[in-house]
Amino acid sequence: MNDLSALPADFVWGAATAAYQIEGAVDEDGRAPSIWDTFSHTPGKVDGGDTGDVACDHYHRTAEDIGLMKTLGLDAYRFSVAWPRVIPQGSGEVNAAGLAFYDKLVDDLLEAGITPNATLYHWDLPQAQQDRGGWPERDTAERFGEYAAVVAQALGDRVKNWATLNEPLCSAWIGHLEGKMAPGWTDLTAAVRASYHLHVGHGLAVQALRAAHSDVQVGIVNNLSPCEPATDREADVAAARRADGHTNRWWLDPIHGRGYPQDMVGLYGVELPVKDGDLESIAAPLDWLGLNYYFRNVIADDPRGPAPYAKSVYLPGVRRTAMDWEVNADGLEQLLVRLHEEYAVGKVFVTENGSAYRDTVGPDGQVDDPERVQYLEEHLAACARAVRRGVPLAGYYAWSLLDNFEWAYGYDKRFGLVHVDYATQKRTVKGSGRRYAEIIAAHHRKARRAA
Ligand code: FCB
Repeated sequence: MNDLSALPADFVWGAATAAYQIEGAVDEDGRAPSIWDTFSHTPGKVDGGDTGDVACDHYHRTAEDIGLMKTLGLDAYRFSVAWPRVIPQGSGEVNAAGLAFYDKLVDDLLEAGITPNATLYHWDLPQAQQDRGGWPERDTAERFGEYAAVVAQALGDRVKNWATLNEPLCSAWIGHLEGKMAPGWTDLTAAVRASYHLHVGHGLAVQALRAAHSDVQVGIVNNLSPCEPATDREADVAAARRADGHTNRWWLDPIHGRGYPQDMVGLYGVELPVKDGDLESIAAPLDWLGLNYYFRNVIADDPRGPAPYAKSVYLPGVRRTAMDWEVNADGLEQLLVRLHEEYAVGKVFVTENGSAYRDTVGPDGQVDDPERVQYLEEHLAACARAVRRGVPLAGYYAWSLLDNFEWAYGYDKRFGLVHVDYATQKRTVKGSGRRYAEIIAAHHRKARRAA
């Protein structure tokens, strides 16, 4: 077994999910459509024509799912709040029934001894707000700040760990530039404006959270990837630098008070709609930073491609998950060390990490997933190496608690520690879930002995 002894005694062991991926119940108790309802119901956008209409039916099965968290021995659970449940039209009327769902979820988690860690935005913008222009417009950032205040006032007495945004890179670049996620645009100007307004919204949400409860711990969750040149050709090295700007620096520099990287501002050629005070608000000091890590990128020059004119190269002979993503745990260590050395982060969590494989239920009813076990162990070992190198890593959230609606890939891609049979909604803890539970239990035992 890999050596995890460097992980601190109070290391937080968690699992993560997101509202649209698990909840279902899309038109219950006053929820209005989000951009993901629209996108998934548009033919050709999601593999197999899958939608989040039912998903894991978590909305009706929270008790069972909290039971699963207890079985795994989790310290914490990272979930997201659906804006279209709380303020269905994006602005204006607050839907008490929507808030009540999260209110009870939080109470039940606390009752089970599990610390809630809530994310305000995991991609499910109310469609009505999209119809008013969505993230390319400043209005959406302002409405997001109002929504943050409502949620913080309702839950902030019990939820002390908050993330504003999940992976704004995906909202901006994949949603508005590559068009592979909602709202499905391919417009560089809109994408850059969206990225900026996501950050403005983040800044406003930080203020709203702290204004509601001064003792909350606020962070943001970014997905980052090391970008390594495919060859030592000058053109590939420069492309890797651009890819790093697009993937990592654009999302890290502004929140650390460095403004937007000038090389990328020049490359995009889109004027940022900056107003007085924005950059300071975007850079408000955070209590923690969330890192979602899945893979590294190996980059070659791509002068004819879209911005940033760099493409990922498919390396032969490396291990890959069912997503076709390279398994590379060293990349996680490398990013954690970079956050520590280059950005001097005070506290970091791995807020997502995990793998999709083609799991099947065996004749004995068990789901054995040795590749996911190996992925998990290797990435935890990378966390421990980062801690040994001085990184203030405070916890790890596996993606995901459950198999779920994997966005444009639909239900075919299974990331769960727990298998979901979508026909019956039967949950089965996989081998990886059992392994994770053992690792957590061993860590808790060791921490108790040391105390
Ligand atoms: C991340 C998302 C998460 C999930 C994983 C596989 O980019 O935050 O919702 O889809 O990828």
